[in-house]
Amino acid sequence: MQLPVGQTKILILQGDITEQDTEAIVNAANSSLMGGGGVDGAIHRAGGPQILEECKQIVARQGRLPTGEAVLTTGGSLKARYVIHTVGPIWRGGKNGEDELLAKAYRSCLALAVKYGIKSLSFPSISTGAYRFPKERAAKIARTTVVDFLIDHSFEELRFVLFSRNDLELYERVWVKLANCS
Ligand code: APR
Repeated sequence: MQLPVGQTKILILQGDITEQDTEAIVNAANSSLMGGGGVDGAIHRAGGPQILEECKQIVARQGRLPTGEAVLTTGGSLKARYVIHTVGPIWRGGKNGEDELLAKAYRSCLALAVKYGIKSLSFPSISTGAYRFPKERAAKIARTTVVDFLIDHSFEELRFVLFSRNDLELYERVWVKLANCS
């Protein structure tokens, strides 16, 4: 599914984040930046050791990455030139600032992309795997945060890459509702 928000093309598709040819892809990392499972594992496997090397240098310089923040490394051998690593919140029932932290993670990635002049960026569904954030709630936060950010900024393309058919359909429902309201 494709829809415009201002000057920005939003593309929602089912696929593997590591195969995207956008200028940057987002990694759903953890604060250690030392890799893990899910998206994180897939990105480090596909991108090679250079990504981890840069992550180690970042942690040596500035310490662990707080939840909601983002940093940039090379894309190593990925098609994407850069990886933006962010840390989403672990779901703990919803009363511990999870919604705002998830929004902050999306905003931090977008702000870093602007800072580096990145014109196209792919997002996974941050926090909805190992971190167990409820999927529909997360999809709405992703949508609202991105649409708000696009009031003052534009990209050539923002992609949401969903791993499963169910997640794709959920995202399509959430974004179609928005299109019908605007
Ligand atoms: N491409 C796109 N989406 C993927 C891929 C992939 N290759 N692999 C998994 N996903 C999906 C999952 O189905 C889930 O919906 O990405 C979403 C996020 O899941 P996780 O990767 O588990 O990320 P998160 O919930 O943010 O948990 C982060 O998991 O692996 C660790 O180091 C990581 O500790 C951190 C935690």
